[in-house]
Amino acid sequence: MNRTLAIIKPDAVGSGKAGKVLAHLEGAGFTVRALKMTYLKAVEAGQFYAVHRERPFYQDLVAFMTSGPCIPMILEREDAVSHLRETIGATDPAEAAPGTVRALYAENKERNAIHASDSDENAELETGFFFSDQEVLGLQG
Ligand code: CMP
Repeated sequence: MNRTLAIIKPDAVGSGKAGKVLAHLEGAGFTVRALKMTYLKAVEAGQFYAVHRERPFYQDLVAFMTSGPCIPMILEREDAVSHLRETIGATDPAEAAPGTVRALYAENKERNAIHASDSDENAELETGFFFSDQEVLGLQG
């Protein structure tokens, strides 16, 4: 068993699809280990997506991620990172496999319903970005 980080993004929360997305993730075998609703500040969204700083969509992405609440969560299952990437589908919903979260619920490449960590290393970093030591360490008890 290992863990990864997912974020239900402001488009899916705003259109009332958060429950459906969460049910889909649980149906795919993930256990929710921590979850919160939060509002990202621009500086936080910018930091979270710093790897994309030079990309043309960076400012829009930061504006989108701060446009409403999002729901980060820690998910657990075997091979969590790769299974979650498979479960959510390609970045662009037009290219996402049928039945994936993005094929079902995303609007477009930017407003794509959900984020998932792309490696175990980033899962650890991204988990620490949203959840305090107490919230994460509390999982051990
Ligand atoms: P995510 O998995 O959260 O990681 C980076 C995000 O940048 C991605 O999902 C999209 O929301 C966004 N993104 C990636 N490529 C593009 C693009 N070409 N145009 C707009 N947004 C993009």
